[in-house]
Amino acid sequence: MKAATPSVETTLGIERLAWHDERAAAAMLVRAFAQDPLVKAICGQPEERRSEKMWWSFRMSLRAHCLSLEPAWILRGENHAVMGVVLVSLTGGRLSGASDFLFSLRSLWHIGWAAAQRGVEAARAIARHLPAPPFLYVRTLGVDPAIQHRCLGSKLLTHALNSLGTPSPAYLETAVESNLRFYSRHGFRCIGTFSAIGVPVWRLWRPARVEAPIPGPSFG
Ligand SMILES: CC(C)(COP(=O)(O)OP(=O)(O)OC[C@H]1O[C@@H](n2cnc3c(N)ncnc32)[C@H](O)[C@@H]1OP(=O)(O)O)[C@@H](O)C(=O)NCCC(=O)NCCS
Repeated sequence: MKAATPSVETTLGIERLAWHDERAAAAMLVRAFAQDPLVKAICGQPEERRSEKMWWSFRMSLRAHCLSLEPAWILRGENHAVMGVVLVSLTGGRLSGASDFLFSLRSLWHIGWAAAQRGVEAARAIARHLPAPPFLYVRTLGVDPAIQHRCLGSKLLTHALNSLGTPSPAYLETAVESNLRFYSRHGFRCIGTFSAIGVPVWRLWRPARVEAPIPGPSFG
C-alpha cells in the first residue's frame, strides 16, 4: 500500500532565522511582497529592476535584524527552502539601529539613490505613527505565495505573538487592505491610517489579552 504523502503543513517547521538564511529569506520575501503597494512605490519601475531592489532591501533589513539580535523565525520547507518569515522587535519604537556599513553601501548601490530616499521617507512616516512603547512590533510577515492560504501565516504569527511568554500588546502596519481580515482573526484592530509616500497604510493594534483567535472557515 502506498504511504500517504505528508501535507505541506506538517512538513514545514518553524526555526529561528540564521545568518545563512539571509539570501533565501530575502528571495522569498521578494515573492511574497511583489504586489505590496508600499514596496512597489518605494522600489519603483521597471519591474525587473524592482525585484533586485527589493532583494537588496530585504537583505539589508534581515541583516540589521540579525545584528540587533532581535527575534525572527522562518518556516523551513523541503531542501531547506525558506517558505515563510516573521521579524519582530521587542523594543517597540526604535527602528533597527545596527548595520553592516560596507554591506549597506553595497546594497544602496543596487537599490539606487531615488528608491533609497523613498525608503527613508516611508520609514520616517512609519516611525512617526508608532504607538507609545512597550509593544511587540511585527515588522515583517511573509509566506511564499505558492503555499499561502494554508494557515502557515497564522502559524508563524501566533508563534511570534507567543514568543515573549508573557502577554504583551502588539502592533504592525500593512498597506494591503485585504490583510485586515487576516489580522482581525488574530485579535488586531485598526487604530488609524496614514499615508507613506502617498500610499495608504493601516495601523493595527492587538491588546495584551485577547479572546482566542477567531476561527477561520473549516478546511477539511
Ligand atoms: C499575509 C500573509 C502572511 C498570510 O499568510 P497565509 O499563509 O496565507 O495565512 P493563512 O493561511 O493563515 O491565512 C490567510 C487566509 O487563508 C485562509 N485559509 C487558511 N487555510 C486555508 C485553506 N486550507 N483553504 C482556503 N483558505 C484558507 C485563512 O482563513 C485566511 O483567511 P482570511 O484572510 O480571510 O483571514 C500572506 O498572505 C503574505 O505573505 N502576504 C504578502 C505579504 C504581506 O502582505 N504580509 C503582511 C504585511 S503586514
